[in-house]
Amino acid sequence: MKSRVLTYLKESRDYISGQELSNIFGVSRTAIWKAVKGLKEDGYDIKSVRNKGYKLISIPDILLADEIKYGLKTNYIGDNVIIYDAIDSTNQQAKRLALDGLGNGTVVIAEQQIKGKGRRGKNWESPYQTGIWMSILLKPNIHPNQASMITLLAGLATVKSINKKIDNNSFIKWPNDIVINGKKVCGILTEISTEIDTVNYIIVGIGINVNTLEFDKDIKDIATSIAREEGQKVDRVPIIQSILQNFEYYYDIFKRDLNLSNIIKEYEKECININKEVKVIYKNKEIEGKAMGITPIGELVIIDKSGQKHTVNSGEVSVRGLNGYI
Ligand code: BTN
Repeated sequence: MKSRVLTYLKESRDYISGQELSNIFGVSRTAIWKAVKGLKEDGYDIKSVRNKGYKLISIPDILLADEIKYGLKTNYIGDNVIIYDAIDSTNQQAKRLALDGLGNGTVVIAEQQIKGKGRRGKNWESPYQTGIWMSILLKPNIHPNQASMITLLAGLATVKSINKKIDNNSFIKWPNDIVINGKKVCGILTEISTEIDTVNYIIVGIGINVNTLEFDKDIKDIATSIAREEGQKVDRVPIIQSILQNFEYYYDIFKRDLNLSNIIKEYEKECININKEVKVIYKNKEIEGKAMGITPIGELVIIDKSGQKHTVNSGEVSVRGLNGYI
């Protein structure tokens, strides 16, 4: 009842009376009052005026599954959205849910991660209510060695979603960091469970510093948040919705083609490394050269000073600009 009442309140510009709502839903006015009370407890600011009824004033800055699903234009990503106030890691939880049989497209989000995971065994700071800490569970019928391309899709979906909402421009730092003004705002960690040549499930974990204002001293020189760069707080729900929509769009193309050939051009446009000098640490080797582009399977193409061409896979690689992070 709560979510049905909420939908009505969102769609009506003026007050809507308890009587009207009780006629629409065929329930008592007390049931409507209880639903409104529940919504207020969830943090919705709803004004009640005698003889006029109820009016929605503002929605809370907490993540609620109904808020995310409301108006979400996807076919299957986000059909099931599960939100936790605090969890060890949304990737870990998504894995547990995958083993419990939860389906393709399930989205797991937390307000806070106690043990957020970064790439290469690093910790990912995930303070309460300041970011988007989200994992998407996928069960594609692909070969395990095609899975790394999904990380690039998530990067592209995310950068486009962030750029739609901000004045600054964010860019992808290949393979899957997102940066604003040279500092990292988002990281992506894709984890996979496989058999010899099949995939059981894939978890795409996306972490975005949205409204974080302070960072630990060991990351504060390279990390930032959208709010820090924009100079104002930013709503998380529209960004989440847009990521899920964009992700489904690119993921469907990838599943059809089983490569990135129809996506690379867009990816390259958003990628800060292209045509820049980079230093890549790859299989214990250091390659310095110019990043030329992305191959149809998502590798970075580099030409070194001697003119030799290298293609590096996104798996275990670290990319830097010659004088720093970018
Ligand atoms: C990186 O090191 O850049 C990757 C960071 C990935 C963080 C996200 S937050 C949601 C998901 N759950 C995790 O524990 N990690 C990922």
